[in-house]
Amino acid sequence: MPMTDSRTLYIHTIGCQMNVYDGEQIERMLAGRGYRPVAGPESADLVVVNTCAIREKAEQKVFSFLGRLARLKRERPGMMVAVGGCVAQQEGEKIRKRAPCVDVIFGTRSINALPGLLDAAEVTGRPQAELAMSPGEAAFVTARPPEAGAGPASAFVTIMQGCDNFCAYCVVPRVRGREVSKPPESTLAEIENLVAAGVREVTLLGQNVNAYCGGAGGCDFPELLARVNAVEGLRRIRFTTSHPKDLSEGLMAAFGRLDKLCHHIHLPVQSGSDAVLARMNRKYSRQIYMDRVAALRDHCPDIAITSDFIVGFPGESEADFEQTLSLMDAVRFDGVFAFNYSDRPGAPAARFRNKVDPAASSRRLERLLNFQKTVTTEKHAAMVGKVVEVLVDGPARKSAPQFTGRTFGNAIVNFTPEPADRMDQMDLMDRTDLMDQFRPGRRVRVLIEAAFAHSLRGKPEPREAKGEKSHAA
Ligand code: SAH
Ligand code: SF4
Ligand code: F3S
Repeated sequence: MPMTDSRTLYIHTIGCQMNVYDGEQIERMLAGRGYRPVAGPESADLVVVNTCAIREKAEQKVFSFLGRLARLKRERPGMMVAVGGCVAQQEGEKIRKRAPCVDVIFGTRSINALPGLLDAAEVTGRPQAELAMSPGEAAFVTARPPEAGAGPASAFVTIMQGCDNFCAYCVVPRVRGREVSKPPESTLAEIENLVAAGVREVTLLGQNVNAYCGGAGGCDFPELLARVNAVEGLRRIRFTTSHPKDLSEGLMAAFGRLDKLCHHIHLPVQSGSDAVLARMNRKYSRQIYMDRVAALRDHCPDIAITSDFIVGFPGESEADFEQTLSLMDAVRFDGVFAFNYSDRPGAPAARFRNKVDPAASSRRLERLLNFQKTVTTEKHAAMVGKVVEVLVDGPARKSAPQFTGRTFGNAIVNFTPEPADRMDQMDLMDRTDLMDQFRPGRRVRVLIEAAFAHSLRGKPEPREAKGEKSHAA
């Protein structure tokens, strides 16, 4: 039954882009029932916690946030707390033993059940839980599209749920279930709705998008990309994550063929040692990985390649770790995420012997990140003096007229249109006109002037004077 009164909602998201996507869907789903978002849990009638179980630290964050909610709830007993996501799926009703303040627990494939669970908790006054691993299309959350004009420049679209790979360290197949693909028709309709709302860039999400197989005709991932590329009004397409073992010729060729497909691939390697890769159950060797990187660069010479690493996997020796550094040296990634190995309940590696001393693992992590910082800084420095196309995400800082966006690769670019003093001198019309050029979703050509470890800075190329274009044509 839709609510007519206005209640307040706060969604707290921990974890990967899939959780961010789920959080956005939940917000729109509950907006239809009269909930409006507020900035923090203190003033919320309902708090939804979107949880992550990938490493122990992520799980600890969940329980410390629930501790904070318990204290708030003592002051405001009417507040409701709902917990979804990967810890909800993993722990189920056990969550309430550690966090009795929780009213509703919903699993990773039970998001559509949330409104009903909230109603039942309210009517009965008793906690509710739904953890069913809904099969097929029911595994995906379905919320109404955003209002016209209300969309951001860039949005996520989950196209697959689950994972069938069972890497030895990973909890995802246990908490997100077996692979299932969203049919291409619903994916395209969702993207068209986003574009109508103002979105110009979509990032397609799945744990292993190469395994995408949707609809009656068995549309594969390169075909889906081609169909998304044809959506009018959309400017850029990104996707994540690709498993190196499944990276196909068809996908590599797409980078050269599809004009909207950004020149970036996130291709997690995890380790540069064959022995470690085999124990991780990654199903590729160091050589296969390097061959795929070379093939990608053949298809798309300026492709940005980023990766994930786990250091201190059980049994990883110093020599194994040196192999990881030498792979990084050979590939020269554009960016990496790296993590200390963390035992996960139910994952086979939790039972492996020869655990690495956490202090040694942290030292390796630091060496790895320092190495990458040097590479990224060098790569960024090589871009100084070049002009790049930036898709504007929005203002970089609230106080200064500085904007932020990304290149067609994956670099973050901050730029300031005019020296601030000149902006101050402009009349309102000129200023509004200038700001309009840099609205989220606009494409701007930016001359890169300075390079840092995590970003670039530049200034927009001067605009053609009004009317100049028609003279030139
Ligand atoms: N599906 C993606 C990654 C999902 S998890 C893939 O196949 O690569 C994101 C990253 O978290 C992984 O790439 C891995 O580097 C890291 N990770 C996963 N489980 C971990 C664990 N138990 N300890 C430390 N890092 C882990
Ligand atoms: Fe986890 Fe491996 Fe699946 Fe990625 S591919 S989600 S690391 S099991
Ligand atoms: Fe975390 Fe679940 Fe994503 S475990 S990384 S939120 S799939």
